[in-house]
Amino acid sequence: MWRASVLTILPDIFPGPLSASLAGKALAANTWSLDVVDIRKFTTDKHRTVDDTPAGGGPGMVMKADVLARAIDAAATDARPRLLLSPRGAPLTQARVEALAQQPGVVLACGRFEGVDERVIAGRGLEEVSIGDYVLSGGELAAMVLIDACVRLLPGVMGDEASRTEESFTEGLLEYPHYTRPQVWEGRAIPEVLLSGDHAKIAAWRRAEAERLTRERRGDLWSAFLARFRGSRAG
Ligand code: ADE
Repeated sequence: MWRASVLTILPDIFPGPLSASLAGKALAANTWSLDVVDIRKFTTDKHRTVDDTPAGGGPGMVMKADVLARAIDAAATDARPRLLLSPRGAPLTQARVEALAQQPGVVLACGRFEGVDERVIAGRGLEEVSIGDYVLSGGELAAMVLIDACVRLLPGVMGDEASRTEESFTEGLLEYPHYTRPQVWEGRAIPEVLLSGDHAKIAAWRRAEAERLTRERRGDLWSAFLARFRGSRAG
């Protein structure tokens, strides 16, 4: 069973959307487990303080190293990767998601406030991961995103259909356009080739569309794709 442990000061918002749809069914089927750890339980003062003012001054509050470290020590006694969700982290990619889905699970620390004391990041070997270049009010939604992306890849969670569409992103291209009945909707027809029954032609069209969309929308992905393509021809 793939195990997700989430360390948070907002335990009540879990499983949230992870209880629905594919992830929820897989959770009920024990394909994965969710262990939500309330960081506040690891405070020692009567006010149950998890944050304090930043050394050196400045705005906001900082999550205390000692409290978070105790929570990690209690929750993560095994070899699972320990990640801190943070806008400062390495951007989460499908390749990383695939690697994490192959692990026994993940330990996810959710930051809140202005940040987390740097010493617990170093002291507990937390790797910072970001889900995108925007700032959320905390790591919880990012943790849910990461878990959802991993869980759908676990054996038995998705049907064949979905796993095939997965391959296109894994290859570094955006997905080709999809259509379903009716054949004409508001005057817009399904592209002729898709109704031809010629599977080779359909595959070629989809590939060309995936490349076109990637080139038009995501110059970054397109450059990386071309570099890999050239590299594989040279090697
Ligand atoms: N916490 C706040 N913003 C975040 C982001 N973009 N990714 C991951 N964790 C975050």
